[in-house]
Amino acid sequence: MVDDPRDPENPQVVWHAHSVDRSGREQLMGHRGCVVWFTGLSGSGKSTVANAVDILLHQRGVHSFLLDGDNIRHGLCAGPNLLEPEHGTDYAQRFGLGFGQLDREENIRRIGCVAQLLVSSGLIALTAFVSPYRRDRQRVREWVERHGNAGDFVEVFVDTPLDVCESRDPKGLYKLAREGKIANFTGISDPYESPQSPELHLDAARRAPEELASQVVDELIRRQIIGR
Ligand code: ADX
Repeated sequence: MVDDPRDPENPQVVWHAHSVDRSGREQLMGHRGCVVWFTGLSGSGKSTVANAVDILLHQRGVHSFLLDGDNIRHGLCAGPNLLEPEHGTDYAQRFGLGFGQLDREENIRRIGCVAQLLVSSGLIALTAFVSPYRRDRQRVREWVERHGNAGDFVEVFVDTPLDVCESRDPKGLYKLAREGKIANFTGISDPYESPQSPELHLDAARRAPEELASQVVDELIRRQIIGR
């Protein structure tokens, strides 16, 4: 819950509680909501594992929803090129997101807000973003827990070494980054800050996506977010 609903900078914007609250929604769903935040290099398998978890949860009758980096960057977090034709140059420059540090910060902030809304609706939000900066991930954790409960943010490190991601290169982006044709590419010309104490650490180079997905579901059971 928000302690002081009144934002001192914007006293005209006042937070108010909804009549149907989260616990009522969770009762209806039959499980708790949470964010399962997958982080890892491009090509590490975040989307694949998150998709596999989504399928497993769906089969169990658990309500989940997947927010995926490449898809979200087509809409909510579109880049300048996508916004320009309809909104014009100034707007596209101001609101379009690329891959610089501030752009990534805003990308993750927006996703964090959406994920928190999904949790308030009782869902299990699965998010698959590189999210390379520790501070950005920590801020989402704090945001989600401040508006919900401790334990609502389950960080999953999809740990696939750079050389493996690069050899997979599913979108051909590592090759372009090595050729200097993509700037700020995570792992090549931009940093990736690994989680120091994630709730779950997946050995994603050596295990199959289905096995990793089962590990995630087991962790949700262990944390009593979903039932057996
Ligand atoms: S994040 O860093 O802001 O979390 P996000 O997950 O939304 O990134 O997008 C990453 C995806 O965009 C990658 O999987 C890759 O397909 C693509 N991409 C394009 N340019 C870059 C870049 N410079 N760094 C990392 N990923 C990039």
